[in-house]
Amino acid sequence: MAKLWAGRFEKPTSELLDDFQSSIPFDRRLIRCDLLGSIAHATMLGEQGILPDADSKAIVEGLNGILADYDAGRLTIDDHAEDVHMFTETELTNRIGEAGKRLHTGRSRNDQVALDMRMYARDACLTVDGLLRALLDTLTALAKKHTHTVMSGYTHLQKAQPVTLAFHLMAYFQMFKRDVNRFRLAYGEADVMPLGSGALAGTTYPLNRERVAELLHFSDVTDNAMDGVSDRDFALSFLSAAAICMMHLSRFCEELVLWSSAEFGTAVMDDAFATGSSIMPQKKNPDACELTRGKTGRVYGDLMALLTVMKGLPLAYNKDMQEDKEAFFDAYDTLCKCLPTFTAMLASVTFNAEAMAKSAAMGFTNATDLADYLVGKGVPFRDAHHVSGTLVGKCVKEHRELSDLSLEELRQASPVFDGDVYEAISLKVCVERRSLRGGPAPKTVEASIHRAETWLETMRNQTTR
Ligand code: ARG
Repeated sequence: MAKLWAGRFEKPTSELLDDFQSSIPFDRRLIRCDLLGSIAHATMLGEQGILPDADSKAIVEGLNGILADYDAGRLTIDDHAEDVHMFTETELTNRIGEAGKRLHTGRSRNDQVALDMRMYARDACLTVDGLLRALLDTLTALAKKHTHTVMSGYTHLQKAQPVTLAFHLMAYFQMFKRDVNRFRLAYGEADVMPLGSGALAGTTYPLNRERVAELLHFSDVTDNAMDGVSDRDFALSFLSAAAICMMHLSRFCEELVLWSSAEFGTAVMDDAFATGSSIMPQKKNPDACELTRGKTGRVYGDLMALLTVMKGLPLAYNKDMQEDKEAFFDAYDTLCKCLPTFTAMLASVTFNAEAMAKSAAMGFTNATDLADYLVGKGVPFRDAHHVSGTLVGKCVKEHRELSDLSLEELRQASPVFDGDVYEAISLKVCVERRSLRGGPAPKTVEASIHRAETWLETMRNQTTR
């Protein structure tokens, strides 16, 4: 079929080029955005008297018909079309004739695709927002059950100090909370209406850009036509939010893989979220975690791909920018799979509180508290650190724990030790005494969970649309 732009050409395009440049295999998913955008554009053209009322009405009706057919699964999308924009315009003209050819008045595919992508990005942000909030709900629910579940905290993956499982889980809450904020910022960036930018220099028609923005629920209109068609920052913001979010998921997955190993033994995957081995009958593998960790790489790739596409582009539109779509869609699809699977998997994990407590009681997680005890008796911290370190050294040699040492043995290291030391270095007390804001003490974490729930409630009430 002849191209809608074929006027100045004397030959048809090569089939190789047709196939090479066609974006319909992937941009067909913009079709709802494209139709809704065109409906708003045509409505405005009618209102402004740029198109006769009858034409504007016929176009809007025709486009609504295509939309209804698409929603009902009745629309056949032509795989040979150049892109979704050409397809919808051709389909419209096939349906309503002459008037269809007036739809593109005062518009270019450059501002049209910018509009479609912004609409799509807004929806994507809202969807991810909901998925993230579901994960945050799961985290607070789990944390509530485990404010007294003592476990070892780590630095360098070496045992460090006792914390609680709730404290550890709420660290992830903070990370995913920041992700919610990042996707909301990305939404705000996408929420600016570019139609009226034309190909790059605006248009001579008296379009009402604010009206189109209003019809499509945009908060603002773009202020520079050249930027309006050249800008993909909103997609990059989405992709960088996606990459950071996947990094968070991946760290969590890594920990669950470790925790569910025999060596840690502190978490057990539900059978519904683990897989077996084709050869080793005993295996129960945390595939959901591993795959999420693995898919993080592809989302980073999506971000790098678009950053690289954009880095050398002169203003304004360049066809390179068609490459924004697969990267965006891939990252979005990956999030849409990883987040709900991860959330359900996490909700079904059994945490072994006994194994956690046992593990925390080994490996001197209370050595800092032993030093702090001495500080309480007037010893300077640096000296107290040395005394505690010497006792740790002794225990390592003798395969004992600090709490196994007799008062006599303790006193050989420092005369200020007293009977109250055992209570002071019990893990329960070690955790309870870390009660300043941000610490792991059960009461402190309960307050933090409470703040988290209040925040979630506010977020629920202000979903952007
Ligand atoms: N399919 C194109 C894209 O995704 C639409 C814009 C085409 N514009 C052009 N001047 N050829 O970028």
